[in-house]
Amino acid sequence: MNNNPQLNRNGQLQHLLTTEGLPVAIFLNILDKAESFIDTSKHEVKKIPLLRGKSIFNLFFEPSTRTRTTFEIAAKHLSADLFNLNIAASSQSKGETLLDTVDNLVAMHADMFVVRHSQSGAAHLIASHVDKNIHIINAGDGSHAHPTQALLDMFTIRHYKHDFHDLRVAIIGDILHSRVARSQIHALSTLGVPEIRVIAPKTLLPSKIERLGVHVYHDMAQGVKDVDVLIMLRLQNERMQRASLPSTGEYFKYYGLTQKKLYLAQPDAIVMHPGPMNRGVEIESAVADGKQSVILPQVSFGIAVRMAVMSILAGV
Ligand code: CP
Repeated sequence: MNNNPQLNRNGQLQHLLTTEGLPVAIFLNILDKAESFIDTSKHEVKKIPLLRGKSIFNLFFEPSTRTRTTFEIAAKHLSADLFNLNIAASSQSKGETLLDTVDNLVAMHADMFVVRHSQSGAAHLIASHVDKNIHIINAGDGSHAHPTQALLDMFTIRHYKHDFHDLRVAIIGDILHSRVARSQIHALSTLGVPEIRVIAPKTLLPSKIERLGVHVYHDMAQGVKDVDVLIMLRLQNERMQRASLPSTGEYFKYYGLTQKKLYLAQPDAIVMHPGPMNRGVEIESAVADGKQSVILPQVSFGIAVRMAVMSILAGV
């Protein structure tokens, strides 16, 4: 038996809810499986029949461009039937609860749910409610976790840097409100990255973040010095209770990534961003579109990584 709610009694992945506590073997299995799917998108016929006959529901209670669309593409590449529930036009607006909505979709023979919700714990709640033949993927819950984003980020880092064990990685920006940052820190740590830095003003860092094994920097020039990977985060204004900064102009001056600051990192450092990006706030356009940016490849890799997660959950 194990106490991890995302693993079954045999230690296999039952749900994907968080990168916290996920065994390294499962990380590597997902990354290796994604590698095998990378070429599928380049084939003339992009479909493979691994999930034929399976019904997957996208439940996005918050906006999304990348995650929702790449899950849909990934499901279609695997020949699953993918349904996007239009939340605004659903019976949620008439007061139906989240779990009642899920129960009704299960009655329509759902096999898997991909859930994005503003409330931390929403995907865990559904996972603890459904029968064990149904799989839940957390596509971002509040400021808690975004595991498939972290997995595609790990795939990207491994693609460009080949090995995790000799890297300095800096995560820069609004760590406090970022589910992506939390999921990345757990993933980087499990995969053996020896030096994880977080760079942010005090107002945008969770208290006691050092307990996660990261090194804290408030000065960007010191923080990015000699790093191999820079991960930029946007200001999550929708999750801020009150203004945490004097102005976005001031923020860009001290924490925005410019070409000048990028020169302080390793010459072959890569620049990543989970998106959506706010140009001129956390990153200047010359860097976002520059030769060290791997921001758009991250998006492409997301298709293969999500194919891997769905097929592993389905046991195929
Ligand atoms: N990275 C990410 O979650 O982007 P979306 O909000 O567009 O899905």
